[in-house]
Amino acid sequence: MKKNVLLFILIITTTGAFAQKKPLVNVDQAFNTAAKHYVNMLATHPDASQFPQSTKKDGTPDNRTSEWWCSGFFGGSLWYLYEYTGEAKWKDAANKWTKAVEKEKNNTRTHDLGFMLYCPFGNGYRLTQNAAYIEPMLTGANALATRFDPKYGLIKSWDKHADCEYPVIIDNMMNLEFLFWAAKQAKDRRLYDIAITHADNTLKHHFRADYSSYHVVCYLPGTKVFRKKTHQGASDSSAWARGQAWALYGYTMMYRETKDKKYLKQAEGIAKFIINHPNLPKDKIPYWDFNAPNLPNEERDASAGAIVASALIELSSYSKENKKLYFSTAEQMLVSLASPAYTAKVNENNNFILKHSVGHKPGNSEINTPIVYADYYYLEALLRYKKAIGH
Ligand code: GLY
Repeated sequence: MKKNVLLFILIITTTGAFAQKKPLVNVDQAFNTAAKHYVNMLATHPDASQFPQSTKKDGTPDNRTSEWWCSGFFGGSLWYLYEYTGEAKWKDAANKWTKAVEKEKNNTRTHDLGFMLYCPFGNGYRLTQNAAYIEPMLTGANALATRFDPKYGLIKSWDKHADCEYPVIIDNMMNLEFLFWAAKQAKDRRLYDIAITHADNTLKHHFRADYSSYHVVCYLPGTKVFRKKTHQGASDSSAWARGQAWALYGYTMMYRETKDKKYLKQAEGIAKFIINHPNLPKDKIPYWDFNAPNLPNEERDASAGAIVASALIELSSYSKENKKLYFSTAEQMLVSLASPAYTAKVNENNNFILKHSVGHKPGNSEINTPIVYADYYYLEALLRYKKAIGH
């Protein structure tokens, strides 16, 4: 009997039955392709005041200035290429495109300073410990904090939006990570408390019973809700895909930073909504809105897929029950994104890596185009995937 057990163990060990499943994503290949695109992107963008954003309707590159909320993503992606390759050329390019955003540290007209400053400077600091990156982030985090009004208990997203005096969008969750970093760096409890208060009020007011979220909530003093609506989604009651992605990523990050179980519960609820949704396609890349009116004849949003993939890989490391489900869903998303269905051929797609994102369909802007933040979260997800599989 004992002999049989030993024989059984020997067989399953040598046949690899207990060995880790072979990774389905070829990270090397994905990064090689990404690097080729971004070598070309750098060659076509010598002027660091013209940030790659997307493709215009006539097919030509759409560039923006540093004031645009997406200005930090290109520098951030260059840091991820440096992280993966260790090559000095990426570090130099990343440094150039990081510094190009620096003046936004004094911009108090936007809530997007986390995207704009933390993606480039935060990654740059993490990878190089360059002390020159600290001050722009601390100044920027304090500029972001000026948009927090204790009468509302939230950071104001936009200065005004139609009849909303105090609009807050679910996307705003993404800027809190920046406040956590600054709170730790400067030992400033106020920044930490702002992040917590914003996340708690958003948790209370932005979500429906099924853990899907509204895009915009309009507030009155006393954190009273005046209206719940959409801006970029199909309707006020729909689940705009990128909004669900920002929410998932945001509450996963909240759990990482605080270890408060209520944020983990929220992130798991959002993950369940996304993963089990009957309108999530087989390849796991969401349509631009889970309730878009003409499904299945609607555009996909690769950016939402990339953000969700990155968040799910992190969430899989916190969840006991759903670890495998989160990881395998993210893996399937990355398999899809790395395939020719979403990854562009080199010298095509205006040198962006991914095709098929949707920026603002109701605004008739960036529909089925590359968008710079899809590339950023895709590279981040690939790095997280590589780390998770231990290769
Ligand atoms: N409003 C930022 C986004 O399009 O996700």
